[in-house]
Amino acid sequence: MILYFSGTGNSKFAAEFLADHLKDQCVSLNDILKHKKEPSFRSEKPFVVCAPIYAGRYPGIVMKLLRKAQFAGSKRIYYIATLGSKSCSCEPSLRKMTSEKGMQTAGLFFLTMPNNYVPGGNIPSKADAEYQLKYVSVPELYKIADTISINDTLPEGTANPVTTALSSSVNTLYNKFMVSSDNFVVNENCVVCRKCEKVCPVNNIIIINGDPVFRKRCIGCYGCINVCPRKAINIGKKTEKTNRYFCPEYSDWKEKGLV
Ligand SMILES: Cc1cc2nc3c(=O)[nH]c(=O)nc-3n(C[C@H](O)[C@H](O)[C@H](O)COP(=O)(O)O)c2cc1C
Repeated sequence: MILYFSGTGNSKFAAEFLADHLKDQCVSLNDILKHKKEPSFRSEKPFVVCAPIYAGRYPGIVMKLLRKAQFAGSKRIYYIATLGSKSCSCEPSLRKMTSEKGMQTAGLFFLTMPNNYVPGGNIPSKADAEYQLKYVSVPELYKIADTISINDTLPEGTANPVTTALSSSVNTLYNKFMVSSDNFVVNENCVVCRKCEKVCPVNNIIIINGDPVFRKRCIGCYGCINVCPRKAINIGKKTEKTNRYFCPEYSDWKEKGLV
């Protein structure tokens, strides 16, 4: 069973690729969060979790959901961390959480995908993102699918304790001070298409008197800002000139023979 959480579609693309190639079923954690469903899963094949890296770790909301979840059948979990650059030290936290659940970490894969962190300003153009997806992410996904298909166990990565502790502090500070939609503004380009409301995994956006309004439960996935086809959502003024990125649908790429 492939479980995924995704703000802007990268981890969903990876999960759907793996479900297709491993002939397995795909389950959206976004859907479970958005509709407050019970996280209870059964699979005889190993579980595979795909989620993005936020400030060096799996998102807090994903860790919380996985801690709470009931897993029946297989005791093995593979993790895929989709991220904009190469490495991070999230492995010890994932391994600890997995063993506390009485399960085994079968392996952690880092999968480089287009960057979606709009405040950083370094968002690829559509063409560059598709190039990266096709020539970096998809070939990696084929290798990951091969490893999982033979149920291979990956060796534990070598985590430097100092780097891990530092990155843990950075992550804590990031979550405390940077995760908020308080500075999000909606400009006159908004046509209330409601894509932002629909994509938000935690129902942080509601439409009041024809305008999207942000509540106080943002988890900082940047799905809303990236999904808006008119760049109507910004962080103050600083993101007006920044590109937006949303991953293409896996099914579309498959239909076009791109994958
Ligand atoms: C809040 C936030 C923090 C991020 N932090 C990192 C990071 O620490 N390292 C990294 O390589 N990419 C980082 N990224 C980029 C994403 O991990 C990457 O684009 C990911 O594939 C997005 O997946 P999604 O489309 O499934 O949401 C960050 C993105 C966001 C939104």
